[in-house]
Amino acid sequence: MKIALVGYGKMGHMLEQSAVAFGHSVVATIDPFAPDAGIKIPSGDSRALADAVVSSGAEGIIEFTHPSSVMENIKVLLPLKIPMVVGTTGWNEKKQEVASLAQECGGTIMTTANFSIGVAILYKIVEEASRLVNNFSEYDAAIWEMHHNQKADSPSGTALEIANHLLSEFKRKDSIVTDEFKERPKPNQLHVSSTRCGSVPGTHKVFFDCEADTIEISHTARSRHGLANGAVHALENLCAMLKSGELSAGALYGMNDVFPQLFKA
Ligand SMILES: NC(=O)c1ccc[n+]([C@@H]2O[C@H](COP(=O)([O-])OP(=O)(O)OC[C@H]3O[C@@H](n4cnc5c(N)ncnc54)[C@H](O)[C@@H]3O)[C@@H](O)[C@H]2O)c1
Repeated sequence: MKIALVGYGKMGHMLEQSAVAFGHSVVATIDPFAPDAGIKIPSGDSRALADAVVSSGAEGIIEFTHPSSVMENIKVLLPLKIPMVVGTTGWNEKKQEVASLAQECGGTIMTTANFSIGVAILYKIVEEASRLVNNFSEYDAAIWEMHHNQKADSPSGTALEIANHLLSEFKRKDSIVTDEFKERPKPNQLHVSSTRCGSVPGTHKVFFDCEADTIEISHTARSRHGLANGAVHALENLCAMLKSGELSAGALYGMNDVFPQLFKA
């Protein structure tokens, strides 16, 4: 498959390696600032971005840029109707708007805050654990994440996703608190805390704690290769499933849609 990479930073470079390793060709690396990008387009020049992607002949797009540019990129690229996978985080609250846009223009987009298959499995484990722990009123719950000091947003999109899976089954809590506490936490509040340090690729922990013990569920990414591989596989699956009719164009999809194995017993 011919793939255009929008954003040629740390992830862009890894995506290129993964795409080539899986037999694809990277036909464009587009980034306004990266010195080694194949195509440098001034940030915010939507027409030039669209022209560059179209003239590259790309059959799929992978976008890993910055929370401040992702919405603009989606709005420009989605109407091209080239299947697109977006890895940039920090636009959770705009998902509904993007789903409507996809429906209107017929473009297809897939996104997740974390392309690691291990994290997708973690979500299921957290949901199941929360369902069980919910039956024992003595347990409290919390989430902690740690990432490298170049990450622009906190908490991570993954931590918020884990929180949503936990809250869906842990009925005593219904509100996420990411700020510092000025008073004792209320029982209904779920504390999601973040640490930024060094080069950590991504660690997420869920704690269920009571006087007797702590249950700790942990996911540690060893490198960013798993994320890049996951994004390329997600694009491969998205394109194959659109072709076979398993998925329809004009929608916003997530991990569960493009990796149906996540549902297998
Ligand atoms: N979903 C996931 O699994 C996952 C995994 C890792 C990182 N991320 C997210 O992906 C994003 C990028 O991560 P990174 O580590 O590659 O960051 P990075 O800072 O190394 O690279 C981002 C690149 O985007 C470029 N850029 C900025 N605006 C642009 C625009 N308008 N058009 C094209 N390129 C533009 C920057 O010049 C930079 O080179 C972040 O939001 C990060 O949180 C998501």
